[in-house]
Amino acid sequence: MSAAGPEREGDPLRIVVVGSGGRLGGALMRVLGERHRVVGLDRGALDLAEPDAVRREVGGRDFDALLCPAAITGVDYCEAHPEEAMRVNAEAPALLAELAAAKGARFVHYSTDYVFGGDQPGERGEADPVGPLGAYGRSKAAGEQRVLAVSPRFWVARVSWVFGPERASFLEAIVGRALAGEALSAVADKYSVPSAADDLCRMTEALLRLPEGEGGGLVHLCNGGGGCSWQEYGQAAVDAAARAGLPLRSRAVAPMRLEEIGFEAPRPRHTAMSNARFTRLTGCEPRPWREAVEEHVARYGSRWGP
Ligand SMILES: NC(=O)c1ccc[n+]([C@@H]2O[C@H](COP(=O)([O-])OP(=O)(O)OC[C@H]3O[C@@H](n4cnc5c(N)ncnc54)[C@H](OP(=O)(O)O)[C@@H]3O)[C@@H](O)[C@H]2O)c1
Repeated sequence: MSAAGPEREGDPLRIVVVGSGGRLGGALMRVLGERHRVVGLDRGALDLAEPDAVRREVGGRDFDALLCPAAITGVDYCEAHPEEAMRVNAEAPALLAELAAAKGARFVHYSTDYVFGGDQPGERGEADPVGPLGAYGRSKAAGEQRVLAVSPRFWVARVSWVFGPERASFLEAIVGRALAGEALSAVADKYSVPSAADDLCRMTEALLRLPEGEGGGLVHLCNGGGGCSWQEYGQAAVDAAARAGLPLRSRAVAPMRLEEIGFEAPRPRHTAMSNARFTRLTGCEPRPWREAVEEHVARYGSRWGP
């Protein structure tokens, strides 16, 4: 903890969130803001493609922990703009890591299951080799390496299929289509683990609460319950909406093949991750993703209609 930081476990931390306008960034502001002093920098306040601005905006602040959920997350956009992707997703996190290190602060950088090539079924652990298929995954994998080269005590938290109230995702889209009575379909041969942004925030807090020097490195943060296909995820969301009493006009999510979508950049098929290292380190067991989906749909689903 930095010199002026909290002395006792449970004291509020001074946290800066870079990328506070995004899905996970907004959730970090809200959830960690309940117990900590959190300052957010959204893209309007700080463009990560501008290193001088990063040094000025982040280097000029005092904090105990720096969190970076900011990234260029458009997979096809990254494929078309690989240099910009490298600047924002790899070079900027490395600079943030240096600034955090200079202050003796903690740093959590968020990465992705798309660092994996995903050619084999099953759950991936942190020790499994990466093999990104496209420019997005390559830029994120480079960001992981560069952050951990600054300090192996920093955290690189890989997340997958994030949903949360701050920004709509696949989950809201498929329930919205069911409410509008459209035909429903989703890819049935691509697998990962849906994860609630709020749960990822609590997992992040558990990492920040570990004693100084305990852990660090790669850690997979995702809900429990194992991997599923996009189709299973979509069907679970629609079924949850039915149980929540939403006026659905279509119910069955038909299977599609990944090739049928016609994405520009290649996508990995099998990227479900195991959160076992997180549980070993913290003693916390993330709830199953189906439970988190159920709660999210029940709480926010009435907003997603046509
Ligand atoms: N969502 C998922 O399913 C998923 C899956 C795997 C990994 N991840 C990782 O999880 C992290 C958070 O993702 P998310 O779902 O919260 O994504 P998101 O909603 O797209 O948020 C990313 C944020 O970064 C900001 N950003 C983009 N370029 C920037 C720049 N040059 N300077 C400053 N900020 C910039 C975006 O600004 P705008 O508000 O202008 O867009 C956005 O607010 C990312 O590292 C992502 O790679 C997400």
